[in-house]
Amino acid sequence: MAQRDDVAKILVGEHQLQARVAELARAIDGAYSDDDRLLLVCVLKGAFMFLGDLMRQLTIRHEVDFMVVSSYGDATESSGVVRILLDLEQNIAGRHVLVVEDIVDSGRTLDYVTRNLRTRRPASLRICSLLSKPSRRAIDVPVDFVGFEIPDEFVIGYGLDFAEQYRNLPFIGVLKEEIYSAS
Ligand code: IMP
Ligand code: MG
Repeated sequence: MAQRDDVAKILVGEHQLQARVAELARAIDGAYSDDDRLLLVCVLKGAFMFLGDLMRQLTIRHEVDFMVVSSYGDATESSGVVRILLDLEQNIAGRHVLVVEDIVDSGRTLDYVTRNLRTRRPASLRICSLLSKPSRRAIDVPVDFVGFEIPDEFVIGYGLDFAEQYRNLPFIGVLKEEIYSAS
């Protein structure tokens, strides 16, 4: 069966996504200057597509670096035990850092990541997340730039996966019930 058939509904369509990413870029352009030498820290894997589109819309000078984190837990729930599988190449001491995330759910992953990054003494540390599920928050993490607040549903597409699948879909969609229950 084609993967598109596994999608129950589209939550955020392709055009709506692109329009909002452009708005976020304008907000980030306004919040920093060229002299800040902004460093975007992309949390892989989920945020890679968002980062690519966001960067192309930014007009201020910036650099990028990547971090791979993995949270232990089952397929749809993070446990709060976060491991850094790949760390930044750059020393972020004195740098203006903007963490680029795909989604803030319980907040546990981002809480861990930002605590960790703060120990490295950046000049500033802010967060930009494409999606947020406020009703699921267990730890309060301040998110400075949010693309969309979404209801408590497991979403896929535009970089987000279920069991490593569906990242290529150009929209944010909700998976069909039977796909979860089958796993
Ligand atoms: P948190 O630690 O509970 O905030 O979860 C954050 C991470 O879990 C995100 O960075 C995603 O990788 C993953 N995640 C949370 N909710 C979803 C979802 O609805 N779809 C896909 N991945 C999700
Ligand atoms: Mg993520």
